[in-house]
Amino acid sequence: MNVLFVSAEVAPYSKAGGLADVAGSLPQALAPYVNAIQVLTPLYGQIDLVKHNIQKTSIQGKISLGKELIPYSLYQTLDADGITRIGFVRCDQFFARDGIYTESDGEGFADNNLRYFFFQLVVLDLISNGNMKTDILHCNDHHTGLLPAMVKAMKLNIKTIFTIHNFLYHGHFSLQEVALLPEPLGSLLTKTQWDNYSALLEGIDHSDVVTTVSPGYALELLAGINVDTSSHVRIQAAESKFSGIVNGIDTEYWSPALDHYIPFSFSADEFEGKRKDKEELLLKTGLPKDAEAPVIGSISRLVENKGFPMIVELLDEFVALGARFIFLGSGSPEISKQLKDAANKHPRHIAFEDGFNEPLAHLIEAGCDMFLMPSRFEPCGLNQLYSLRYGTIPIVHHTGGLGDTVEAWSSTSGTGFLFEPYETKELRAAMQLALKVYHSRDDWKTLMKRAMAKDFSWDQSAKQYLRLYNS
Ligand code: GLC
Repeated sequence: MNVLFVSAEVAPYSKAGGLADVAGSLPQALAPYVNAIQVLTPLYGQIDLVKHNIQKTSIQGKISLGKELIPYSLYQTLDADGITRIGFVRCDQFFARDGIYTESDGEGFADNNLRYFFFQLVVLDLISNGNMKTDILHCNDHHTGLLPAMVKAMKLNIKTIFTIHNFLYHGHFSLQEVALLPEPLGSLLTKTQWDNYSALLEGIDHSDVVTTVSPGYALELLAGINVDTSSHVRIQAAESKFSGIVNGIDTEYWSPALDHYIPFSFSADEFEGKRKDKEELLLKTGLPKDAEAPVIGSISRLVENKGFPMIVELLDEFVALGARFIFLGSGSPEISKQLKDAANKHPRHIAFEDGFNEPLAHLIEAGCDMFLMPSRFEPCGLNQLYSLRYGTIPIVHHTGGLGDTVEAWSSTSGTGFLFEPYETKELRAAMQLALKVYHSRDDWKTLMKRAMAKDFSWDQSAKQYLRLYNS
């Protein structure tokens, strides 16, 4: 069985969100069980060829997009374990830019649809020319959502699996844009109620198997929660091929014992390192040293659906109770300003770093006591999994993958604090309970140990994907 795994982002080469982490680690976990697994992704301008030992191959071709004939070439490297081959599609006209999807001001590139049409046509070209031996084509999110229909249009003898990492992003495109694609693809596509097309829904319609990144989120999509009615009809039509497989994590890269980004390692038997990491974190973020104060972390895109309106509303109150907050993330200028203002107002209690900072992300996971993740919805979520591994107790909304991976605290069981319905007063109650348990030191220690004992390695989930591949 030869698997080709396609994704618009792959860590550590390019990353805008959790999709990159999955694309960077799931293929490695699958590698021992298949004949070969290759990953394909665009070669963005920010990817350092020398650092990652990425080399040009002799494979190249030309893709017709509308009236244009656009050349590409293929670059390759091996992943960190030297098992999985990562292929990079080079086409400077589309990908030699600093951003993955957006300009530096956060605005999406005007030609995003064309960029991923092109990428998908290259994937198809590589398969049909025999340059990528493929039995199973594993597509991820809307950037690769047209591939299952393309495979059908070209009557290729391969099977397709489409994984939804987030239903919020559809990759809508217009009738005029469809005209750029080779026939007979256009005739296979279905218009949405807005008179355009959705690459995400096309992936659902045409793939042999659809998965999403947790069983809980699969149930929500099938029930039509946070889904418009016309999309819901198409999800329901796919019900018999639809399932949820929870994401795993790279347990070596996110490990309190092995993490080279944190100054002090620790384990469930020895929390001294965590205490020192907390001191280091407070020092680095400019907050006063205080071993007793509960420190609450957040690493997130700054968008409404990650729960920031609620968090901002509660900050004053919890600062008054002695809590410290450390925020890391970028996104909406408005939320960024709110967090900046809060940090200015409470310089001894709130720290905010606007941006993406991998070392600080690891130190937050290691050094905080709690991790705040009140997403309105969450397909899987990875940061709560990283948090559990570092004994940093998650406070989450009971939704999607958060509900599947965090168990509600009681004095004898559970790994975190969950709330529902989605209201500020419920989040407040969960945070209050977390603080109460925190101050009962023995209970908290037991809770940390339970959290750290959970296994979120890829193995179980990789086997579920494998079962689908085999079927
Ligand atoms: C998206 C989802 C997140 C998921 C990740 C990886 O970023 O929002 O919940 O964990 O994809 O699948």
